[in-house]
Amino acid sequence: MKASIHFVVSVLFIIGFKVYAHQNKKHTESRKPHVTKEKLESINNLYSQAIQPIFKNKCLDCHGGPSQFPWYHRLPIAKQLMDDDVREGKKHLDISSGFPFKGHGSPLDDLKAIEKVVKERTMPPMRYWLLHWNCRLTKKERLAIVTWVQQSKKILREGL
Ligand code: HEC
Repeated sequence: MKASIHFVVSVLFIIGFKVYAHQNKKHTESRKPHVTKEKLESINNLYSQAIQPIFKNKCLDCHGGPSQFPWYHRLPIAKQLMDDDVREGKKHLDISSGFPFKGHGSPLDDLKAIEKVVKERTMPPMRYWLLHWNCRLTKKERLAIVTWVQQSKKILREGL
């Protein structure tokens, strides 16, 4: 009798633990999207219609484009800061050609990073838009970018 109670308790314990462990498992890892050329192409189509013009104006200077520096780039400290930004920015994300972007992230990583900086309004960096007032993203532009990111993530996950 005692042994069977012990058995039942152990089984329940094991089941309970498995359910618990399963809940804690990161599902995102097992659901890595299967990236195909077609998916990337349709994301790039959406990108070039709606997003590329925004990125060209507001992001490209530091993310892979030929930098068009303002006059104060000639001042020693400003030059140093700007050159650092351009080097760092390009390393993180290079948007000089279409999607998928160059840089160190996978397409999904890049989309997530873009969504994050746009929602948190951390790009362009503040030190930059303090000087170029009109380089900040407008509300409309932020909405367009986030919508594109969401459409693109869906395409990556679920196909066309
Ligand atoms: C003044 C230069 C500059 C401009 C303009 C700029 N960025 Fe950046 N960006 C950087 C630098 C520098 C980094 C890397 C260091 C950091 O995160 O501050 C970066 C990093 C990023 C990252 C990677 C963040 C991460 O967590 O890996 C994303 C995504 C990004 N920028 C998107 C954008 C977008 C979108 C725009 C335009 C709306 C933009 N940036 C405009 C300089 C810039």
